Amino acid sequence: MLRSTGKHSFTKSTVIFSLVCLLGIALTVDVFWATRSSSSSSVYSSIASNWPREESHVVVLPKAANDTDSEETVDDKANRVPQRLLSATFADIPAPELEWEQMPSAPVPRLDGSAVQIKDLLYVFSGYGTLDYVHSHVDIYNFTDNTWSGRLEAPKDMANSHLGVATDGRYVYVVAGQSGPQCRTPPTSNTFVLDTETEKWERFAPLPAPRYAPATQIWKGRLHVMGGSKENRHTPGTDHWSIAVKDGKAIEKEWRNETPVPRGGPHRACVAVGDELYVIGGQEGDFMPKPGSPNYKCSRRNEVVYGDVYMLDSEMKWTVLAPMPKPNSHIECSWFLWNNSIIIMGGTTEKHPVNKRMILVGEVFRFQLDTKQWSVIGRLPYRVKTTLAAFWDGWMYFTSGQRDRGPDNPQPKKVVREMWRTKLKL
Ligand SMILES: *[C@@H]1O[C@H](CO)[C@@H](O)[C@H](O)[C@H]1NC(C)=O
Ligand SMILES: *[C@@H]1O[C@H](CO)[C@@H](O)[C@H](O)[C@H]1NC(C)=O
Ligand SMILES: *[C@@H]1O[C@H](CO)[C@@H](O)[C@H](O)[C@H]1NC(C)=O
Repeated sequence: MLRSTGKHSFTKSTVIFSLVCLLGIALTVDVFWATRSSSSSSVYSSIASNWPREESHVVVLPKAANDTDSEETVDDKANRVPQRLLSATFADIPAPELEWEQMPSAPVPRLDGSAVQIKDLLYVFSGYGTLDYVHSHVDIYNFTDNTWSGRLEAPKDMANSHLGVATDGRYVYVVAGQSGPQCRTPPTSNTFVLDTETEKWERFAPLPAPRYAPATQIWKGRLHVMGGSKENRHTPGTDHWSIAVKDGKAIEKEWRNETPVPRGGPHRACVAVGDELYVIGGQEGDFMPKPGSPNYKCSRRNEVVYGDVYMLDSEMKWTVLAPMPKPNSHIECSWFLWNNSIIIMGGTTEKHPVNKRMILVGEVFRFQLDTKQWSVIGRLPYRVKTTLAAFWDGWMYFTSGQRDRGPDNPQPKKVVREMWRTKLKL
């Protein structure tokens, strides 16, 4: 199950004083999603070295939760001084600069897409182009000649986003997920296998229940699927199923119930290394369709992002390990394994405590499998979630995802198709 190059399957707060209270900013869903434009080839000069460290963009905090005087008029509130300011970028962790090189962009922009690496190829699956448009195909990048050289259509009833994906080095298992755009419910339990040699798809035993973005991995001859969100898109699942697989086929009749994962929810990295299976980060809760909306228009719900790390061992016992340097979600395909470390690029962290906006992550994290400790080894060219990560011939790569509004604004904006790489020295 362990391949040396593959990915899946083995694969501040500045407190100063000033005015005004920005609390109660209306949150609209669109703010969290991309501009509707799907073109994304504009050139960004905001590469790593340009990330400003000064707090140029600040949001205003109330002085303290307790200074709300019930006799105050609205005008009194507006004129009140002083207040605390908290940088919008407070969550950035100081990180070494990396020199990024831009590579050919993917044919389409992708949010909530999935990817597996098989030798020198990166298979990039489906995802949103915009919130109203989802992909139903696979794009293939070749690391040897650095071109996007292939495309495969996906089965019609395969989900378009929030897929669970895992590969054994030839077959790619694509498990459940969301069909259609916006925040379509319910998810599907449909599961498929792609034989990357013949480029043919086969139907696979459906998951016992539908899930969004379940943690998925092949471990010791079995396809493991756990967590994710349940039918309403928000409720975290903790169920954990597995089924024996060989050469792209289930060799058991039914999925087996396994020890539930200690914490449920979608958008987590799931990594198998030898006798250990790791489940990293994620969140509880997610956007839900607006009640009564015929097109399942997304509306934001409470989410708790966490950095928890759980390890399953041969005795099928879960152990809690050191958490990530900060809560991190939307990282299911944002990782790769290299030299006894798990590397994770980007993600989303806990919402801003005051303006409640979603905050993207721009760090590159390293988890050392020998010491089981985390460190921050670099910064991406911008903050971005649902990156699709890979490693080839000394370079680490990432493509796709939804990037920030700029160096001083970590809120999500544009869905991108860019591909970047940098030399990795561990
Ligand atoms: C707010 O008030 C509560 C109860 O009076 C007190 O325990 C708490 O420390 C106060 N918090 C701040 C930030 O002043
Ligand atoms: C990737 O590109 C190289 C150079 O063009 C080619 O030799 C190789 O066969 C390609 N890999 C695959 C798996 O197609
Ligand atoms: C892998 O890590 C070890 C120990 O950290 C280091 O000595 C070695 O040079 C690394 N190997 C590569 C190929 O980067």
